[in-house]
Amino acid sequence: MKTLLVTGGAGFIGGNFILEMLDLTGYRIINLDALTYAGNPDTLAEVARRSDYIFEHGDIGDRERVQGIIANFQPTAIINFAAESHVDRSIDGPAQFVQTNVVGTLNLLECALAYWRALPLDRQDAFRFLQVSTDEVYGSLGPVGRFTEESPYQPNSPYSASKASSDHLVRAFHHTYGLPVLTATYATGCTSRTTAQRSCACSRSAGSARSTTLAATPSARTSMWSRLCAACSTNASRWPMAANANR
Ligand SMILES: NC(=O)c1ccc[n+]([C@@H]2O[C@H](COP(=O)([O-])OP(=O)(O)OC[C@H]3O[C@@H](n4cnc5c(N)ncnc54)[C@H](O)[C@@H]3O)[C@@H](O)[C@H]2O)c1
Repeated sequence: MKTLLVTGGAGFIGGNFILEMLDLTGYRIINLDALTYAGNPDTLAEVARRSDYIFEHGDIGDRERVQGIIANFQPTAIINFAAESHVDRSIDGPAQFVQTNVVGTLNLLECALAYWRALPLDRQDAFRFLQVSTDEVYGSLGPVGRFTEESPYQPNSPYSASKASSDHLVRAFHHTYGLPVLTATYATGCTSRTTAQRSCACSRSAGSARSTTLAATPSARTSMWSRLCAACSTNASRWPMAANANR
């Protein structure tokens, strides 16, 4: 059975990702989450007792904890959803955003690299580190237009600056050390399970919802498939992990 280490899985997007991945067969999910104010374990209550789902309470910035989890569960892929993610909070207190989104991601990358280097070649080939980013790293759209993977990084808030910084670290770990990485920069934060728990963001990105992109570094680019958001009927992104991460 393939094992995915998902960070931030008690959050809005990560929780929905885990529920959808567990609907597919053949994946064991390890969810590492610090349960900050943004974490909601209730999202995952329906799967909490499943043998293919394991919750680990911890911080992505905790080196010993992350190393232990990776060594114990030997993941095929690491999917990093964990983040401080609210723009308004980043304006009030940017330091925590740098700590989690930049320093925490760096720690994950270092742990992933050490693990990946020690894998046999066939498992090295299969391994992926997927960084979940945001279209906000590209700045602001006007009334029309769209972002693509080629759009220049122009972060405008401490939140997007911290996400841009972590994207750059992810890229650098590929180019410097060869770590196989993917970066998903998507716009619409809604899923088939979007509820009042957190309203979908489609309306916020009206006109740009279809700019959702998946940038795969360094060379592979993968199309996202899409479907209707149950909450707002806007075309919403859906994760391509099943097809992509275990290549
Ligand atoms: N929600 C959106 O509309 C949207 C849009 C684009 C990109 N994103 C990105 O998707 C990812 C997930 O977003 P979300 O809306 O689910 O976020 P969220 O704020 O709802 O959840 C974040 C999760 O990360 C956990 N977390 C925070 N710090 C942690 C740490 N140091 N160690 C471990 N866990 C920690 C929290 O407990 C929470 O469960 C983020 O990286 C975000 O930047 C979100």
